[in-house]
Amino acid sequence: MKKTPYVSKIPNEAGQIIWTPTENETWSILIERQKQAILNCATPLFTEALALVDFSHHHIPQLPEVNKRLLAQTGWQVQSVSAIIKPDEFFTLLANKKFPAATFIRIPEELDYLQEPDIFHELFGHVPLLSHPTYAQFMHKFGKKALALQPKDRSRLFRLFWFTVEFGLMNTSVGTRAYGAGILSSIGETKYALTDASIKKPFNLLDVLRTPFRVDIMQPLYYVIESFEDLFKLIDCDFKEVLDESRRLGDLAPLFEPKKNKIEIEGKMTC
Ligand SMILES: [Fe+2]
Repeated sequence: MKKTPYVSKIPNEAGQIIWTPTENETWSILIERQKQAILNCATPLFTEALALVDFSHHHIPQLPEVNKRLLAQTGWQVQSVSAIIKPDEFFTLLANKKFPAATFIRIPEELDYLQEPDIFHELFGHVPLLSHPTYAQFMHKFGKKALALQPKDRSRLFRLFWFTVEFGLMNTSVGTRAYGAGILSSIGETKYALTDASIKKPFNLLDVLRTPFRVDIMQPLYYVIESFEDLFKLIDCDFKEVLDESRRLGDLAPLFEPKKNKIEIEGKMTC
């Protein structure tokens, strides 16, 4: 398992985490900066959802207060977990409408780039859209579908998660916009994702399942959906069949250089 300098904080009996002044200040800087950065990048559905969850700018939101709002909207909850969890645990949480959140925040020296997901990524990137009923239902069903598969199929199905929940784009009335948490919680990828430096392709499940990715670079390719209903509709398909077909056809050629340490390319539930 990858070594990490970060360790999740353990909530007390009331579910509260004691954050230091520096950690709360880091949150303040990140949320104020990122709210400006996403103005012409995020899908309006995301900005509306962000307003609905109404995160404080002054301190890292406590999970009980986040969960109170989410529970009222869609029944989802955020659950604190250690920094990296096993696939079984990850999918089991999703299947139970629980989103795993690593409860640490990046140090000030790593404000702009962090390979592993911290609580800013989890809350700012993922939580707002969990208040959207169609998106939330997709996530719930994704977890249940993944749990029913064999481990090798789960790993491949994770590409669907990667190219939608983490790095998805959507056509909207104001142009192509991002809804993926990996884009919208990253200052660098927010500025990069909609430029001509990357390729955009219409979402196609078979293509997505055949597309390798790297976790440690700006994505060279994004898949674009038309609406969250697209995701909800596809979740009822026979994944076993399309996964077998994707394996039979083989992976599409990677649009990135191989990384020396292959274990860091795919397969960890660092979401
Ligand atoms: Fe994530």
